[in-house]
Amino acid sequence: MSEIAELKVGDKVYKLPIITGTEDEKAIDISKLRGESGLITLDPGFKNTGSTKSAITFLDGEKGILRYRGYAIEDLAEKSTFLEVAYLLIYGELPNKTTLDSFTSDITKHTLIHEDIKSILDGFPSNSHPMGVLSSLVSSLTAFYPESLDPNRSAKDVDLSIRRLLAKVPTMAAWAYKNEIGHPANYPDNKLNYTSNFLKMMFAVPAEDYDVDPVIANALDKLLILHADHEQNCSTSTVRVVGSSHASLYASIAAGIGALWGPLHGGANQAVIEMLEGIKKDGGDVNKYMAKAKDKDDPFRLMGFGHRVYKNFDPRAKIIKKAADDVLDKLGINDPILEIAKGLEEVALKDDYFVERKLYPNVDFYSGIIYRAIGIPTSMFTVMFTLGRLPGWIAQWKEMRENKEPIGRPRQVYTGKNLTDFVPVEKR
Ligand code: CMC
Repeated sequence: MSEIAELKVGDKVYKLPIITGTEDEKAIDISKLRGESGLITLDPGFKNTGSTKSAITFLDGEKGILRYRGYAIEDLAEKSTFLEVAYLLIYGELPNKTTLDSFTSDITKHTLIHEDIKSILDGFPSNSHPMGVLSSLVSSLTAFYPESLDPNRSAKDVDLSIRRLLAKVPTMAAWAYKNEIGHPANYPDNKLNYTSNFLKMMFAVPAEDYDVDPVIANALDKLLILHADHEQNCSTSTVRVVGSSHASLYASIAAGIGALWGPLHGGANQAVIEMLEGIKKDGGDVNKYMAKAKDKDDPFRLMGFGHRVYKNFDPRAKIIKKAADDVLDKLGINDPILEIAKGLEEVALKDDYFVERKLYPNVDFYSGIIYRAIGIPTSMFTVMFTLGRLPGWIAQWKEMRENKEPIGRPRQVYTGKNLTDFVPVEKR
């Protein structure tokens, strides 16, 4: 017998089942509440609302735990590869050697994008933000693969759409960057692995050799793993909600890219570096910026700090902070911005305002420092987050479809005018 919660409204008591997850997380199931009582629940920003039951990612914000399909993020970041993690998220199990080889080979086969996509790219002004370009190009895949429009086709067809997407997004991302700087696009090099191929498409220039530095490729692979999924965050919820209308995978992911772009979500990595550069330019006084972050009349926030779910520490930030030290050390880079970041963290972790509100560095606080060190330009930071998050979005979209979830459609409490007589324009 499942536990029951009771809700008393006036004289009436409503019995609501309590659902328990595999990690003993509990939720009150209110799905029948409106039918029985006429009441809805109100929770702006869904701070306390579970939108689904999911078997993909487990996160305990109080204890700083993050696991994909039961595997600790620390283990995956250290011992796995991005494509292995992508397979794990999407199909639920770690692949064996044969399955991984075939998955990798399928993705490698599809890295090329249709030449006509180049004409779409040509239509964007150079200097276009690559996130906007990427979202548009992903959406354009619906035109090149019209069969993908119907997500109800066979599992094999859906799988092909998934593999095409994983293969083509790095090419599109690198081409969006080349467009931004006005350089010719590089074609994929299928002799290279996923991450190295992306780096070559980003950085190779005509008539010059480009050898991928393994330190850089490994650092990037680790960053992608750390971003690969994060349960029901803003962009993932967007992907699931858009997909719940039976929109295609490509349309759903294009919407997710838009949601990730904002500075309160994935766009924070770009905002962090811009903030740190601003502090450096202004003399490096971290206390001045701490005061601004605490001043409620000042819109300034300490970017890369705070998280909706993590209230102790963000395990991804812990791994990334160490990786930032390692990578800069191996590449022989001394970045003054890293020192400013560490100084800010030190002051913030001792500051009452930040301690009381449980605000810690999040995944975006140090990731930008690694991106900078490996040569990724600031405008591409959120695109890098997109590359990492792609398998998570796909896994969540696929789970939502397989669970036959209903269309996402929240309710509201109306606070506008009551019925008002219409007055013709000439009498207003
Ligand atoms: N700097 C200063 N004050 C902050 C910050 C910050 N970075 N973050 C939260 N607060 C304060 C906020 O003003 C509020 O104070 P009070 O209780 O006095 O009104 C309190 O802390 C709670 O904040 P909130 O905005 O209600 O919390 P939330 O859960 O709605 O927002 C957040 C979470 C991540 C949007 C927010 O912490 C933030 O804006 N951080 C900066 C942006 C950032 O780094 N985003 C990346 C998140 S991690 C990547 C991802 O997965 O998206």
